[in-house]
Amino acid sequence: MSTDAPRPADILKVEGLKKSFPVRRGFLQRTTGHVRAVDGVSLAIGRGKTLGLVGESGCGKSTLARMILKLLPSDEGRILFDGTDISAFTDARMKPLRRRIQIVFQDPYGSLNPRMSVGQILAEGLRTVGVRDRSAAAGETERLLSLVGLSARAVDRYPHEFSGGQRQRIGIARALSVGPSLVICDEPVSALDVSIQAQIINLLKDLQDRLDLSYLFITHDLNVVGYLCHRVAVMYRGRIVEEAPAEALFERPLHPYTHALLAAVPDIDAPRGIQAAARELPEEPAAPPAGCRFRPRCPEADERCDRFDGEWVRAGEDHRVRCWRAG
Ligand SMILES: Nc1ncnc2c1ncn2[C@@H]1O[C@H](COP(=O)(O)OP(=O)(O)OP(=O)(O)O)[C@@H](O)[C@H]1O
Ligand SMILES: [Mg+2]
Repeated sequence: MSTDAPRPADILKVEGLKKSFPVRRGFLQRTTGHVRAVDGVSLAIGRGKTLGLVGESGCGKSTLARMILKLLPSDEGRILFDGTDISAFTDARMKPLRRRIQIVFQDPYGSLNPRMSVGQILAEGLRTVGVRDRSAAAGETERLLSLVGLSARAVDRYPHEFSGGQRQRIGIARALSVGPSLVICDEPVSALDVSIQAQIINLLKDLQDRLDLSYLFITHDLNVVGYLCHRVAVMYRGRIVEEAPAEALFERPLHPYTHALLAAVPDIDAPRGIQAAARELPEEPAAPPAGCRFRPRCPEADERCDRFDGEWVRAGEDHRVRCWRAG
């Protein structure tokens, strides 16, 4: 591509992505079926924007993230990164692109090598983008630490010497060390105290503005979604069931599942987030039913839902939902 070719508005576009895993049971570990972890997901993330991905445990969020990062091959579908179809890219072809898509994990402690100092952790990333010279690396390390709000003295210290929030800052600095365009944040604040969560969210927002980063922000906490995300996609059993600009989703949630998720949010003292709301729904059946997948748990279901095939219903500007009632 020539350098003056127009850049696509979306940094990431995913089309019809699918992944299923074999379910093995018993002593012989025979394959007894498949779980459709990601079942035809399409979404897009605008340059410099944040897409929130919310849904209860096991709905396929991390599987989707791993496919986008090309850590896990997809069964079907396309992944376009900055206009390039990377779906079929081999490791060798992915190499120059790897640095442009980074991930920040939920548990910074588990994902930082305890035997490496912060300086060594960051130097590793810097080397992959060609910063080898000692003094250049030292300067870059200092810049990264200051970007994430850590003192330059952190450089000689080890992960265990930091608090959870500070460790998450190190995880973010590591992601930034290679100069990414897209950062996938997989529950980056779920393991932190509420007061610390806000600091990390503020940091992410600030970094987005300064570095023009795009985020895929995976979370259970809808409070976080409202503050940080421009758009929100709600995922249920491997599928996106509602997608809208964040404001529209909060003002006019349309899918009964989104309602259930939002029901837990208003009272500050109530347990927060989706997990709490989801517990109030009946349990998910082992196999998805015919018709709408959410039907067995839906408080509003009737016989029309058996015939509804989960197609998208347009509910307004940029707002779509897989529920016939929204039509
Ligand atoms: N490597 C694997 N082998 C078999 N099944 C898997 C594998 N990875 C994920 N799964 C299954 O795929 C489904 C989706 O899992 P995934 O980890 O993507 O969910 P999640 O939305 O990230 O959940 P959580 O909120 O708990 O992190 C689950 O049923 C999970 O058990
Ligand atoms: Mg996950």
